[in-house]
Amino acid sequence: MPKMTFINPDGSEKEVEAPNGLSVLEIAHKNDVDLEGACEGSLACSTCHVIVAEEWFDKLAEPEEEEEDMLDLAFGLQQTSRLGCQIIMSDDLDGLKVHVPSETRNIG
Ligand code: FES
Repeated sequence: MPKMTFINPDGSEKEVEAPNGLSVLEIAHKNDVDLEGACEGSLACSTCHVIVAEEWFDKLAEPEEEEEDMLDLAFGLQQTSRLGCQIIMSDDLDGLKVHVPSETRNIG
């Protein structure tokens, strides 16, 4: 089973099992990672925002336009930001690392 790692705002890391076909948001919820995901993956919020580790960013499928639009509203947007509900786990992403953004609203 693939694995992925969440990196918390305080720098602590949590490696979890990441079944193929589940989104990063679903995996976070299964493992008590603090990602909100208010709209449950329907691209109507930006609370599932994660910052993908640079070495992984290029391996992900390109974001849809709707995702880009929503991301623009995310707090603390970074160059490798994505919406967690749109990253779907597959064998190719085994080892994926994403940062959970801090809730501070005054970054960036
Ligand atoms: S959970 Fe709302 S856009 Fe991802």
